[in-house]
Amino acid sequence: MRFRPYRPSDLATLFNIDQQCFPPGIAYSMEELTDFVHHRTSRTWVAEYEGGIAGFLVASRQPGRAGHIITIDVAETWRRKGIGRALMEITEKWARAAGIEILRLETAEDNLTAQRFYESVGYRKTTKVENYYGPGRDAWVMAKWLR
Ligand SMILES: CC(C)(COP(=O)(O)OP(=O)(O)OC[C@H]1O[C@@H](n2cnc3c(N)ncnc32)[C@H](O)[C@@H]1OP(=O)(O)O)[C@@H](O)C(=O)NCCC(=O)NCCS
Repeated sequence: MRFRPYRPSDLATLFNIDQQCFPPGIAYSMEELTDFVHHRTSRTWVAEYEGGIAGFLVASRQPGRAGHIITIDVAETWRRKGIGRALMEITEKWARAAGIEILRLETAEDNLTAQRFYESVGYRKTTKVENYYGPGRDAWVMAKWLR
């Protein structure tokens, strides 16, 4: 597995992976994904194997020495092999180098797999945001201090 920065030619593949990873209403539209990935404050890394992309992570820099994990997606057949953890480590390395002190993210309240995953890499639940993903679909904000 090779981890490298995003290239514009990856976009359609990332969109397909995101559609497979999330239910309708939570998966991004092509427009949303394009905006996130191409935003001037964001960074995207992909996990590439011979012939394809196994997963990716989009993060952004925010005011106040903060960073935001916008999404992390690992294709189903590639899960539980350490790819998610490796993408989080790359992001943390970038964040520390950029002077970011805290990383935050949101995850659906019923996405227990993601919560276990984030906890395993040092994130803790902070606040619950009601209706974050639409009516009745709450989210947890999770955060990790880098110092
Ligand atoms: C969450 C996700 C990114 C994890 O990626 P991954 O590559 O499978 O994760 P890793 O293999 O690096 O797992 C690291 C650790 O996280 C925890 N973990 C990961 N998946 C888990 C699961 N299904 N159940 C319990 N713990 C889990 C474990 O502690 C694991 O370590 P271990 O395998 O040594 O026990 C992946 O499941 C995914 O893409 N899910 C769909 C999209 C999604 O929900 N993204 C998060 C949105 S907020």
